[in-house]
Amino acid sequence: MALFLVEIHSITAMFLSVCKTAQRTDLADIPAFYKVSLGGDPAERSRPQLVGPSGFWVAALESKGGTSQVLGCLGLDCHQLEGADELHGELRRMFVSRHYRRHGIGSRLLSEAISHARGFALPMTMELETSELQLAAQSLYEKHGFGVVGTRVIPMGQLSVLWMFRFRRTLHTVDTTPNGWSN
Ligand SMILES: CC(C)(COP(=O)(O)OP(=O)(O)OC[C@H]1O[C@@H](n2cnc3c(N)ncnc32)[C@H](O)[C@@H]1OP(=O)(O)O)[C@@H](O)C(=O)NCCC(=O)NCCS
Repeated sequence: MALFLVEIHSITAMFLSVCKTAQRTDLADIPAFYKVSLGGDPAERSRPQLVGPSGFWVAALESKGGTSQVLGCLGLDCHQLEGADELHGELRRMFVSRHYRRHGIGSRLLSEAISHARGFALPMTMELETSELQLAAQSLYEKHGFGVVGTRVIPMGQLSVLWMFRFRRTLHTVDTTPNGWSN
């Protein structure tokens, strides 16, 4: 029993550490990290612009009173890897509020990110990492053309391990049809 409690404590501590790292890194300053221009004029701040292939998307429910409730989000962090011709895009922070899942929000966020990335310097490889526990996410990524390209194991506490899966999808530049992209 004591060992079980220690195990739960270790696993919880690991998840909290992941959340704290996120708060200290990209989520500490979303506009700076994901290259979102808020505009100099405060009036423009309701219309943020993406200035490059990176971006951060938020699904929100707007009420009549003018307030918004965040339902989900997704970040795309793009950069050129050393020695690579193509752009690398890392998807991060895909999350939909528990109460609004299975309404197509995750799919819409992902489609928006892919569609935005296609408008920039390509070819591009889009990747993300998810765990064996995130079955809904795995299905979502597969549905959008991602496939598993690697695995790694993270020790969890003293007894358990967590399998992580790296998913990848390549976006092609071929744009020979009037309505756009081939992939
Ligand atoms: C993964 C997640 C973002 C999906 O968001 P969502 O808005 O519910 O997804 P959608 O309604 O757009 O569903 C799109 C596809 O995802 C898959 N999917 C979503 N929920 C699923 C579930 N509970 N079980 C299996 N597949 C699921 C399906 O393929 C679905 O397509 P379908 O509706 O045609 O079957 C959401 O479940 C979530 O936030 N999970 C917790 C956080 C997380 O795991 N994030 C991923 C980090 S890598």
